[in-house]
Amino acid sequence: MMLPNALQPSATDHIPVLAEEVRELLAVERGDTVIDATFGAGGHAELLAADLRGDGKLIAIDRDPSARPYFERFRRSTGVQARFLRGEFATVLGQLAANGMKADAILLDLGVSSMQVDQPERGFSYAVDAPLDMRMDPTAPTTAADLVNELDERELETVFRRYGEERFSRAIARAIVRRRRDESFERTGQLVDTIRAAIPAPARFGEGHPAKRVFQALRIEVNDELGSLERALPAALEILRPGGRLAVISFHSLEDRIVKRFLRAQEHGCTCPPDFPLCVCGAQPSLRAVPRRAIRPTAAEVARNPRSQSARLRVGVKVSPPAGDGGLDA
Ligand SMILES: C[S@@+](CC[C@H](N)C(=O)[O-])C[C@H]1O[C@@H](n2cnc3c(N)ncnc32)[C@H](O)[C@@H]1O
Repeated sequence: MMLPNALQPSATDHIPVLAEEVRELLAVERGDTVIDATFGAGGHAELLAADLRGDGKLIAIDRDPSARPYFERFRRSTGVQARFLRGEFATVLGQLAANGMKADAILLDLGVSSMQVDQPERGFSYAVDAPLDMRMDPTAPTTAADLVNELDERELETVFRRYGEERFSRAIARAIVRRRRDESFERTGQLVDTIRAAIPAPARFGEGHPAKRVFQALRIEVNDELGSLERALPAALEILRPGGRLAVISFHSLEDRIVKRFLRAQEHGCTCPPDFPLCVCGAQPSLRAVPRRAIRPTAAEVARNPRSQSARLRVGVKVSPPAGDGGLDA
């Protein structure tokens, strides 16, 4: 089958971030079952598959169908026993957990891939004029244009502030609402022009592209990236075998906060209010963070791959429940 150009795996594929650190901390061994829940171009998967040393299996998940040709290439080149499940990772992990699936390593490498950003028609990039789309799953119901045309001024401002930390959220939201009285937003170029015109002249230079933060915020909202992560973590934990490892690479402080809080809560176990004299919930610790702090890319990695700059890697090892407590894997 001939693939359209945008779907042809190419030499300029996504460069996997914190790849050696992921490999070392996930510590995949021969015969393991690995879930790469954000397959993308399969860069991380390829390294993890090498550690399976010809025995074991890899489940690849991605909500974007354009990851599939990369998966086919991965399967051919590694020869590893592998399956591709197209879908949103929280939903797919939930289904796998419900079916009693068990795994030794799970990876979530969040956000978009370079291939998605480099396909202009996907609308992720502020650098080219294209449809204002931004859906990782092209069959999902809501595009960035829908949000920009339909959210009210206050909602737009909140999205830009919360997910983009955009200083000029209010002015940009107001400018959008004013412009859409005359025409609806269909193209990224319209949004970029509106943002440029809404912010003070000095802010148009020197802090990166003026539309960068609004585009990031819309992408997070369109794809419900934070909600998806919140739902995926408990499902991933349920799937892990005792001793199994979960690695999450995040690129946004709100994502990292979700991961950090989840790890802390699972390390603690007990959910009783702090003023209770003794535990009545009986919840046991179920994960241990290794190491305790987030891992960041080295200066050399950032120089090689500027996209890695904001990356944070956190890893948790599933701890065995005490014998006879009826825990998840008992
Ligand atoms: C940063 S890229 C992963 C790159 C990959 N690790 C590699 O080395 O090539 C993230 C991928 O995860 C997918 N993705 C992001 N969020 C997702 C979600 N909630 N459900 C399923 N796939 C998701 C995106 O479509 C994208 O292909």
